[in-house]
Amino acid sequence: MSGEYKPGLEGIPATQSNISYIDGQQGILEYRGIRIEELCAHSSFLETAYLLIFGELPTAVQLQQFESDILYRRRIKYRIRDMIKCFPESAHPMDALQTCVSALGMFYPLTYKDFHDPQYTYDASTWLLAKVPTIVAAFQLMRKGNDPVLPHDDLSYAANMLYMLNEKAPDLEVAQIFDTCLILHAEHTVNASTFCALVTASTLNDPYVVLASAIGTLGGPLHGGANEQVMQMLEKIGTVENVGPYLAEKLARKERIPGFGHRVYRTKDPRAIVLQRLVEQLFDRLGHDRYYDVAVALEEQGTERLGEKGIFPNVDFYSGLIYRKLGIPTDLFTPVFAIARTAGWLAHWREQLSDNRLFRPTQVYTGRHDVRYTPLTARSGRALQ
Ligand code: CMC
Repeated sequence: MSGEYKPGLEGIPATQSNISYIDGQQGILEYRGIRIEELCAHSSFLETAYLLIFGELPTAVQLQQFESDILYRRRIKYRIRDMIKCFPESAHPMDALQTCVSALGMFYPLTYKDFHDPQYTYDASTWLLAKVPTIVAAFQLMRKGNDPVLPHDDLSYAANMLYMLNEKAPDLEVAQIFDTCLILHAEHTVNASTFCALVTASTLNDPYVVLASAIGTLGGPLHGGANEQVMQMLEKIGTVENVGPYLAEKLARKERIPGFGHRVYRTKDPRAIVLQRLVEQLFDRLGHDRYYDVAVALEEQGTERLGEKGIFPNVDFYSGLIYRKLGIPTDLFTPVFAIARTAGWLAHWREQLSDNRLFRPTQVYTGRHDVRYTPLTARSGRALQ
């Protein structure tokens, strides 16, 4: 049986899901039916993570329990730290994160591997949400030759992450802005990394492997890696005056502008709209950054040139400006994205297990048939393609 082949599976439903919803024409994103703007205004990242994974907003008691379970699971074993010590300093933090997350499964095996036991998914979810930020921060400090900072029990999830990275607790407003960034990156339907998580989940491998495979997929420059490229681009452009020539040259060479375009949105990504507001709020608090002016000019001129094709700024366009101001190095932007997206990946893992069927798509074969084996001495040799 063969169907029509669609490169990139564009428009082909890979699953049924009630976790999140995108209206790409109108620029709407909902988590479990709640608009992203509403969650950013009223929720916290951990409450949103609970909503995504378990399907409903938690009660006060459930939220307190969830937050406290995560709080007490934040530390990582010294052997994981020893493993990080052996990584080359030049390693990309996404590679370090992927390696450590897959190793977590060896250190925290879920002995009662019963996919239908709610305790199983709850434990795996709290372990992973708790430990992923600690790994990212430990790698950052250890590659500079420093000891990692232990998680701070008095700090919220977002504030603790910044504390572990910068060795200094942020003020409440700054922590709140970072927390909102995590909400915005927590989930986004069946994108490349989530699809990868679903495929791995469908084999009934453990959640650490599910997450490690998703992290590997998120790291690519066409997916989560674009936020890093946006910051590098803004630095390269340098001034508002250079935006026009840069754009003209890039488009003449038919190259893509990082942070622009999306497979689903045909308007400005609703997350980019909130993120732009957060940039302004953060810069009011901590001081202006000239790269914001470059970004605004690039959005304006880029939209003039690309808007008619439905290409507008996506989630990666403004997030880097916030992270940079928070003292997060450029190559940690995607790991920070991964910290947030852990919530979405876990939600899809849980949903996949609830009605699992092994992914086994088909292919359209384009090769030859009935080819005879040519003995070595009779081969003429063809250049590798
Ligand atoms: N800059 C310039 N032109 C673009 C861009 C861009 N960023 N994105 C798409 N186009 C053009 C593309 O050249 C094509 O033009 P034409 O029809 O004249 O050949 C047209 O728009 C349609 O492109 P496509 O390749 O069919 O679009 P796609 O849906 O496959 O691409 C995308 C989606 C995200 C891969 C692409 O927009 C892109 O490469 N963007 C830059 C990288 C980026 O910012 N990625 C982050 C995506 S959002 C977060 C995430 O998923 O992690």
